[in-house]
Amino acid sequence: MKLIGPFKQIITLANLPLRGKLSDEQIDIITDGGIVVNHGEIQEVGNFETLKSENQNIETETIEGEQIVLPGFVDAHTHICFGGNRANDFAMRNAGKTYLEIAESGGGIWSSVQHTRNASEAELLKTLVERINFLVSLGITTIEIKSGYGLDVENELKMLRIIKKAQDQTKAKLVPTCLSAHLKPRDFEGSNTEYLNYILTEILPKVKEEGLAQRVDIFIEKSAFQPEESKDFLVKTKDLGFDITVHADQFTPGSSRIAVEVGAKSADHLEATIDEDIEFLAQSDTVATALPGASLGLGEKFTPARKLLDAGAIVAIASDWNPGSAPMGNLITQASILATFEKLTTAEVLAGMTFRAAYALGLEDIGKLEKGKKADFVTFKTDNFQNVLYNQGSLNAEHVYIGGTQIH
Ligand code: NIG
Ligand code: FE
Repeated sequence: MKLIGPFKQIITLANLPLRGKLSDEQIDIITDGGIVVNHGEIQEVGNFETLKSENQNIETETIEGEQIVLPGFVDAHTHICFGGNRANDFAMRNAGKTYLEIAESGGGIWSSVQHTRNASEAELLKTLVERINFLVSLGITTIEIKSGYGLDVENELKMLRIIKKAQDQTKAKLVPTCLSAHLKPRDFEGSNTEYLNYILTEILPKVKEEGLAQRVDIFIEKSAFQPEESKDFLVKTKDLGFDITVHADQFTPGSSRIAVEVGAKSADHLEATIDEDIEFLAQSDTVATALPGASLGLGEKFTPARKLLDAGAIVAIASDWNPGSAPMGNLITQASILATFEKLTTAEVLAGMTFRAAYALGLEDIGKLEKGKKADFVTFKTDNFQNVLYNQGSLNAEHVYIGGTQIH
């Protein structure tokens, strides 16, 4: 057992509800606080001096200078296992080239598939761990990571096995997701339905057998998989025992409705979601995940997070870090910018990057600083937690604790 502190402010988020809008008055601030950690879990959060006198002889880890502490952030949507680079896509897009022109000149998702297939396992693992370490340095302690640049049995399993190996090289919790339904690969001979069937019969049983992922994702979009075939796929996926998440309504509306209908844990993107479907999401337990990094990468509008929160939805914010549409990877910067454009309160943004994102991943033991939760938290050298979002990502995390141990 040890006591960590004193912290100028501890923002526990403990009392905030899972869904709907939040005001900043709802944020409880513990001033001059401390955190008691026992076996990697939070035992108590409270006033530092009180905790110290109540727990005589307790080992104390003293925090120097003025620091504030927040729950470790959760990035619930990334594609950070990939080979190659798509800087040329970015440049072409900004030079006015269309999606088709970029794809024809060798860009797009298919180009990342080829680079990822051609990369050695050692190279993929090395770059993946570098990206994980970058995210951890921002204060992110749980990271979802998708496959989806392999797109055949061999290469999808290769990606998921690498993600599994990466877990041995980081203390951050990694949550793998099988995104074999990212796109029908150009070298697959058959229809979309046949490819989805191939995933169901050839890929997912092996994923299950090796324990490589418990979640399955699909990109429902005109250029990827169509609504009906996707719904059928998701129902069957669920029957196999997987949790479901969907790339929904990125450019065209309609697929968030499918996500809700099949009981997906989350519907992510939602840049094009129509008002009626915002209501539908808000009535459900499917988390609406905003991906401002994709809006910034593509120059598209932001997810209507304000409307979703006002309607009562569970809104999370994730980075979507990937080589194509969201190359930045800085969730704090992206969430701050989303807040500015969508008029989100600090409470809504912090909730969206912590316990609401954790809910999307089905994780109940993280995201708030309260008794029984895992002792994952991030500190910043400042006297006021508002400075974290105010500085739009340029106030660096000072320390990152995972399971009560300082790892950064
Ligand atoms: O979440 N929308 C589809 N998939 C990714 C993009 C992946 C890529 O372009 O490589 C996304 O934005
Ligand atoms: Fe994505």
